[in-house]
Amino acid sequence: MCGIVGYVGPGHAPEVIICGLRRLEYRGYDSAGVALLPDGAQRLLVVKTAGKIAALEKELALRASACAGRCHLGIGHTRWATHGAPTAANAHPHLSANGRIAIVHNGIIENYAALRQRLEDRGAVFRSETDSEVIAHLVDACYEGDLRRAVAAAVEQLEGAFGIAAVSPRHPGLIVAARRGSPVAVGVGDGETIVASDVCAVVSHTTRVVFLDDGDIVAARAGAVDITSARNLPISRELTHVDWDVGRIAKGGFEHFMLKEIHDQPRALADVTRGRLLPADGATRLSGMRMDAREMARVSRLIIAACGTSYYAGMIGKYLFEDFAGLPADVQQAAEFRYRNPIIERDTAMLAVSQSGETADTLAAVREALRKGAVVLGICNVVGSTIAREAGRGVYLHAGPEIGVASTKAFSCQVAVLAMMAVAFGRTRRLSAEAGRHMVNALADLPRIAAAVLERADLIRAVAEKYARARDFFYIGRGYMYPAALEGALKLKEISYIHAEGYHAAELKHGPIALLDSEVPVVAAVPDTPDKVKTLGNMQECRARKSPIIAIATQGDAGAREVSDDVIEIPPCPEFLSAIPVVIAEQLFAYHVARARGCPIDQPRNLAKSVTVE
Ligand code: AGP
Ligand code: GLU
Repeated sequence: MCGIVGYVGPGHAPEVIICGLRRLEYRGYDSAGVALLPDGAQRLLVVKTAGKIAALEKELALRASACAGRCHLGIGHTRWATHGAPTAANAHPHLSANGRIAIVHNGIIENYAALRQRLEDRGAVFRSETDSEVIAHLVDACYEGDLRRAVAAAVEQLEGAFGIAAVSPRHPGLIVAARRGSPVAVGVGDGETIVASDVCAVVSHTTRVVFLDDGDIVAARAGAVDITSARNLPISRELTHVDWDVGRIAKGGFEHFMLKEIHDQPRALADVTRGRLLPADGATRLSGMRMDAREMARVSRLIIAACGTSYYAGMIGKYLFEDFAGLPADVQQAAEFRYRNPIIERDTAMLAVSQSGETADTLAAVREALRKGAVVLGICNVVGSTIAREAGRGVYLHAGPEIGVASTKAFSCQVAVLAMMAVAFGRTRRLSAEAGRHMVNALADLPRIAAAVLERADLIRAVAEKYARARDFFYIGRGYMYPAALEGALKLKEISYIHAEGYHAAELKHGPIALLDSEVPVVAAVPDTPDKVKTLGNMQECRARKSPIIAIATQGDAGAREVSDDVIEIPPCPEFLSAIPVVIAEQLFAYHVARARGCPIDQPRNLAKSVTVE
């Protein structure tokens, strides 16, 4: 998820690594660290700090005597915590117990608990709470004098996603890297080599880059690379000439962080479900909830507290819990909850939904619920954030850092988490294994569905540009599409500054329909769901008032096309998850409207990424 930089060559490794890590800062991170091998040293020097790279630099300066001499090998990391709080101890690199191996890792190791148990049984002593540390111990356990073979043998035992780089004091001129699911690129310069998770860290040194494929293991020496398969067969990979504009690559090649994050959703949806779906049992495993079946069955009511986009995800959560678990759920704006005298009974549980985990109102709601004795579960993206810590249990989104002020991938992952929780609660009550299996399979299909919406980005852009000059918009929907309409309107308001209202499709005629005319487009969220026909009727009503109609509908839906001026098609998707593809289409629509209007998309006026005041 975050950053890896490794260097071997004639340059001063600490300097090159810090400079590379800085180039990766845009990705967001919570802690950083390096492992260096000063010339002639028998041991690696490991320096790690929580917080920004500046703190790491300061710490390195304090150890100046240890690394002021020449140093030609090292690896560094910026961490976006997924397992364990963002502390110095959890920061990477991680060392094997004997200090013989140091590794940095991006991604998530799904089977880390079983591996850790096995390694501990054999005497390994762990120093962090991360999933990543198992890799260091595992490589060490596989080490018989050849670092590349040890890494190859270790990765065979890993499940999950990873980009890894490893070094050892026994091999002063060597970095071994491997990938499965998380990118690794190797820049091969004149007598020097840089291994990185992102070419941004490479291009200031060399434009000659080898991109690893899943399953590749690379032995990188100064100015040379040697790639093999996990079975030690040689592989040849093309050397690519990368001549990118550094400003643009900082956003992964996209013009804005928001666009990058919209396109990140297939990956984020794969990560949020990774290791959590149990298709055979029609169940989900959300160990962070720390609730056994009996405790879950005892919960008789849920309160979902959140703000903004997270609140709209919470509204979908209400439908999910009621439809699939038969569990009554109230969604409350956190700001409202904290100042009322909310009823919290013995078996009430609160779900606090917050991307940042720092939103003041949501935090206050969490504290109030805890004070009243409720079980509180956080649904946060930022690991170790205040809400995550104070709730003490919950489910992380694993969406990776969200930098654009307008929330995008966090929303999709929040809905996915709420759906997984609905399966978890549902299986302790009325949800059958068969119905659970159906849901779990649909959840597993989300990355493909999200990717299919993104394939239509050009068409969405064309529709957006057509309507970019409108002054007012309405978004309508029913059922699961009602919160989706609210979220679509919020996205448009935030970044394009166009007045947009989200309304329940049936509510429109109780007042706001008076505002409709040929200047007010209506975006209708109308995928193929049981209440689609009713929304089609509401679209007709808007059409009769001359409003241009933009439908977000299931591909090939002739009925929707008939009553609309423009159709944005999404792939077929079960109703309970349909808000995800619909909202992705809305995100792209809002993005392109804002872009056509020349708005500062990543930092819209008056908005902050995280609202830490009331
Ligand atoms: C979404 O695009 C917003 N910028 C905003 O509504 C946000 O969702 C809200 O402030 C809640 O933030 P949180 O998820 O970090 O708690
Ligand atoms: N899962 C790892 C951790 O929590 C790596 C996170 C990352 O990709 O930065 O330490």
